[in-house]
Amino acid sequence: METKCEVKHGLEGVAVAISSISYVDGEKGELIYRGFSIEDLVEYSNFEETAYLIWFGNLPNENELDFINAMLTKKRELPKNIIRLMYLFPKNAHPMEVLRSVVSVLGMYSSDNNSTFEDAINLTAKIPTIIAYWYRIKNNFSLIHPNEDLKHSENFLYMMFGDIPQEKELFDKSLILHMEQGMNASTFASTVTASTLSDVYSIITTALGTLKGQLHGGANEKVLMMLEEIRTIDYVEKYVNDLILKRKKIMGFGHRIYKTFDPRAKILKKWLNEIKEEIRYYKIALKVEEVVLKNFKGKKIYPNVDFYSGILYNYFNIPKDFFTTIFAMARIVGWTAHAMEYCKNNRIFRPRSIYNGPKNLDYKKIKEVKING
Ligand code: ACO
Repeated sequence: METKCEVKHGLEGVAVAISSISYVDGEKGELIYRGFSIEDLVEYSNFEETAYLIWFGNLPNENELDFINAMLTKKRELPKNIIRLMYLFPKNAHPMEVLRSVVSVLGMYSSDNNSTFEDAINLTAKIPTIIAYWYRIKNNFSLIHPNEDLKHSENFLYMMFGDIPQEKELFDKSLILHMEQGMNASTFASTVTASTLSDVYSIITTALGTLKGQLHGGANEKVLMMLEEIRTIDYVEKYVNDLILKRKKIMGFGHRIYKTFDPRAKILKKWLNEIKEEIRYYKIALKVEEVVLKNFKGKKIYPNVDFYSGILYNYFNIPKDFFTTIFAMARIVGWTAHAMEYCKNNRIFRPRSIYNGPKNLDYKKIKEVKING
């Protein structure tokens, strides 16, 4: 007999874990990591320090920060065979496909099958290298190897472009904004993999596959495609109204939890406002926001983090198909923190589905089925 249970479409309103990593207040538009507001973290902290905070639950002292810096610096390089393999990939492969595949292959180079902190930090250190190497391989540029004198995010920009922009700190802070966000789709998917006691490479491969989707992390690339398509401010109103009329989703808007402005979008918008020079697509984006808010008055659909992040990445000359990999480069901290936290009190995820198909059908062997005519 079928046990009675209720379907919660998209698991809305269902809690699947108890966690002390981050808190999202969707009504007030607040996000905190381990008790600290993201507004304070982007103001005072940096990638390494916030990563330590998310992984360990407290801000590091100097020794602890030195330890995390050393770990993140030493583990950046990829095995030579993986670099050779990357040269064999089709040049039109999407960067998220490359990242997902290389992380999976890296699992074959790991000595154990566990999910240790060392494995988590190893992958966190290597993900920027995978992204930058792919950017250079794809464009037929020679590789720029990691530089141990540079911090995590500036080393990434250096490996991508060979020089470090003046606003490198803004890029570092944008990673802090993306590091963690409770039980979102990719964190949930990767926590499910962790709950089977799989290894960290499988956990992160799962997370990357989930983040790639356009309803989740893939939205930042789609936003820029939309802004490119709109091209001029005069066309915004018609473009947005057409989407609404056709009941199509406007990329970079809406959120399951935030029912007001996403605080991360607010911070990105403030930064974009503060940059003195004209920022490509920014004015069009502001107009899109104005028209969407006017049309969806009362429906609580606001810009999310993906609406403004792409404009900032574009300002750093990062091509749009690489946007979601930048998101991943930061979010790996949250994914691994949740996997480790969940496994401390692990129970395998095993929900149900409610069967609504036929029963008691008569099986007929294929030869017994008469062919008509
Ligand atoms: N454009 C137009 N309408 C929207 C949008 C949008 N971006 N987002 C929600 N709505 C509407 C829906 O059509 C639906 O309307 P209805 O009740 O009349 O059918 C209602 O608002 C609820 O939307 P759902 O899709 O059911 O909301 P859900 O919580 O399931 O989905 C999601 C949230 C996936 C983020 C959704 O808002 C969306 O698709 N947004 C566009 C993609 C996007 O920007 N994703 C990035 C999210 S942030 C992140 O993952 C990092």
